[in-house]
Amino acid sequence: MTATCTRVALGAALACALTFTAQAAEPRGAKDGAYNAAQIKRGAAIYATKCETCHGPKLTAGEAPPLAGAEFMANWSAYSVGDLFEKTRNTMPANDPKSLSNQEYADIIALILSANKFPAGDAELPAAPDRLKQIRFEAIR
Ligand code: HEC
Repeated sequence: MTATCTRVALGAALACALTFTAQAAEPRGAKDGAYNAAQIKRGAAIYATKCETCHGPKLTAGEAPPLAGAEFMANWSAYSVGDLFEKTRNTMPANDPKSLSNQEYADIIALILSANKFPAGDAELPAAPDRLKQIRFEAIR
C-alpha cells in the first residue's frame, strides 16, 4: 500500500491516502456499510414482536410515524445513528420504553438503516452508544 502510494502523482496519492483511511477506520457514515445482513435478520424478528403493531410491517405505515422513507430521513439526516439509538432506547416501544437490551436496540436500528436503503457491510452495528455517535445518519443521494 505505502509503496504504491509513494510512486503516484500528488492528486492520486491524496486519493490513495483517503481510501486507505476509510478502509482502516470504522464507518463514519451510515452509507459506509454500518451493519450486516445477519443483524437485520435479528432486528426484523424483534421488530415484528415489539414495534410492528404501531409502526407497520414495512416500517412505513401505522398509527405511529414511519421509520423509513422521505419523511423519516428528513427528520434524521442531520443527526447521528447514535442519536436515533438513544431516542429509540429512551422512548420505544412507546408502551414499554427501555425494555430491550442495547444489543436488541442496535439490531432494530440496523433494520431501520436497511429499510432506508443504506447498504449492508461486513461488521455489525455496535451496541455501544459512544461508537454509534460517530456514525453520521445522512441520506443516500
Ligand atoms: C404503542 C405504539 C408504539 C410501539 C409499540 C412502538 N412505537 Fe415507536 N413511536 C410511537 C409513536 C406514537 C411515535 C411518535 C411520538 C414520538 O416520537 O415519541 C413513535 C416514534 C418513534 C420513533 C421516532 C420517529 C421519528 O421520525 O422521530 C422511532 C425511531 C420509533 N418510534 C421506533 C420504535 C421502535 C424501534 C419500536 C420497537 C422497539 C417502536 N417504536 C415501538 C408508537 C410506538
